[in-house]
Amino acid sequence: MPSAIPHDRLPLAFGGDYNPEQWPQEVWEEDVRLMREAGVTLVSLGIFAWARIEPRPGEYDFEWLDRIIGMLHEAGINVDLATPTVVPPAWFYRAHPEALPVTREGVRMGFGSRGAICHSNPHYRAAAAEITSRLGERYGRHPAVVLWHVHNEYGAPVLTCYCDTCEVAFRGWLQDRYGTLGALNQAWGTAFWGQLYGDWEEIGVPRATPTVVNPAQQLDFQRFADGQARANFTAERDILHHLSPGVPVTTNFMAAPSQCQSIDYWAWAREVDLVTNDHYLITDGRRTHVNLALAADLTRSLAGGDPWLLLEHSPSGVNWQPHNPAKEPGQMARNSLGHVARGSEGAMFFQWRQSRSGAEKFHSSMLPHGGTGTRVWREVVELGGRLADLTDLRGTRTRADVAMVWSWESWWAQSLEWRPSADLDARERLDSFYEALYDRHLTVDFFAPDALSALDPARYPLLVVPQLYSAPASVTADLERYVSRGGTLLVSFFSGIVDEHDTVHLGAYPGALRDVLGLTVEEFDPLLPGESVTLRTAQGDVYTADLWSEYVVPGDGCETVAVFADGRTAGRPALTRRALGDGAAWYLATRLTGGDLAAVVDLALADAGITPADLPRDVELVVREGESGTYRFAVNHTDAEVKVVLPDGSRAAVAAGAVEVFREPR
Ligand code: GLA
Ligand code: ZN
Repeated sequence: MPSAIPHDRLPLAFGGDYNPEQWPQEVWEEDVRLMREAGVTLVSLGIFAWARIEPRPGEYDFEWLDRIIGMLHEAGINVDLATPTVVPPAWFYRAHPEALPVTREGVRMGFGSRGAICHSNPHYRAAAAEITSRLGERYGRHPAVVLWHVHNEYGAPVLTCYCDTCEVAFRGWLQDRYGTLGALNQAWGTAFWGQLYGDWEEIGVPRATPTVVNPAQQLDFQRFADGQARANFTAERDILHHLSPGVPVTTNFMAAPSQCQSIDYWAWAREVDLVTNDHYLITDGRRTHVNLALAADLTRSLAGGDPWLLLEHSPSGVNWQPHNPAKEPGQMARNSLGHVARGSEGAMFFQWRQSRSGAEKFHSSMLPHGGTGTRVWREVVELGGRLADLTDLRGTRTRADVAMVWSWESWWAQSLEWRPSADLDARERLDSFYEALYDRHLTVDFFAPDALSALDPARYPLLVVPQLYSAPASVTADLERYVSRGGTLLVSFFSGIVDEHDTVHLGAYPGALRDVLGLTVEEFDPLLPGESVTLRTAQGDVYTADLWSEYVVPGDGCETVAVFADGRTAGRPALTRRALGDGAAWYLATRLTGGDLAAVVDLALADAGITPADLPRDVELVVREGESGTYRFAVNHTDAEVKVVLPDGSRAAVAAGAVEVFREPR
């Protein structure tokens, strides 16, 4: 199947979600004219247009869509054509109210929003297949259609449904997974609290209950829900593959773990022809560009290092946070080109023209309510020009320096109730370790825990495991191989504790990782809110930690680099290093943040032989390379000009807030 849009069909993608159905046809002429003016090369069309395409059951109106696709094609603008299956029309729900999802509490949701879908509902599945077939038949070979956009952001705003149809489907899914009730009872640990099942019919979806639901049941239900949505994606994809040969099929992810928890993107990435992602800046007081870089690195990793496409980001402010600041002058270009540096084959936005009505009218757009006399529009036009100049970089790949492990499954598991501390937060650890590496101007490739067997220490001298509560048993051998062949491993606390059923790896903590780390943990001792402890190294360096302490017992050959200097675990190891083969495995037994975490990451980087670039904080240096040459992106998020050193030793200036791309032909 096609894994990318052929270069001769599309230069770098630049454009956005286009919703002409919200506007009278006179406006379309202006849209296309202004798209040309801005250098738009691709628009995502029809995402929410089901009711417009099929106003009454079985009655189709394609005339308007023929017309706008024709107009775009004539103007040389390509189409990323959507299946509108995220918004079944009102008539559909009137006929099939049971296709509306049901909450844990048993409340059936209403119509009037979007994404109100029970993914198990047979009527929904049939209707989605039908509209997809109609679109595929009509436009599958249209020369303007270079990409298919199935659905929209599966998993948002809701993924799980607790209705009776889902319950029956869940039982079937469990029968496939476990074969026998005995195996299910074993995997779920139902001997606990007397939950043993004697008949498949007794098993339910995890509805509202008096207290905590069996964690293994919750995890399987999460996997099931993710799988139901994925099955609906692959059903539409297969129809389109058949009717639209050679055109890649995607669905837009929200890979940044701050934006969607419910989807296991490692599993989804295997099903799409082209990985695409949506990213929005979250205003939570932290540096938004760090989260953006993480999202882009993670998306590229989902694509296995191949080019991917940023399908949505915002030209300026969004409208769905409590407070929605506008982007500063130049920030949009830094954001867009920041994604391109990290592997995106262009920069697409939500949305082309700002809506007049509806829930998203205060969301910024490429063409604002104020029209072309606006700063946003001028910056959009400028960005279009810059991307046109960068067309040759299509197909080049971003070079990464460090490897990191991330697992949605482990995050799901850790996020369940009744952990040793309610403040444990896998995403926070991911963000913090990533930030420490970002501040050293390093680019990160992410790996799923079951994808570590081939990790090459020569390519990735450092592997960071920020928090991997749930780890497959395979990590033990994979990490030992990685370290003994010369890799440096840095693991932080509460990792390797349970398997995929939330069942503890026996022996001693941290079960799956204790051998490679050369230590055991006798007992956890989480700190109370506001409590902190001091760490001290042999050299006298002092760090302050919070959230967590534990009783570490180092084994033979495991050296204590820092101890807990106070608190209940005083005198016990807090940071250890074990030499193994040609490499070393580090373990950090508490939570460090900011400069203290950076200091520990620096120790591991030095051990791995990685020397970061000497640049101020908030300056990104990211390299794409390939047949057309090497492209060195310098993204300056600071208020001052910076100088970057190029490979020939020369120094080049990057103005405050600017992005420069230094190209070396091959
Ligand atoms: C999501 C959706 C878009 C739009 C934007 C607004 O990414 O896919 O339809 O709602 O958010 O930020
Ligand atoms: Zn349901």
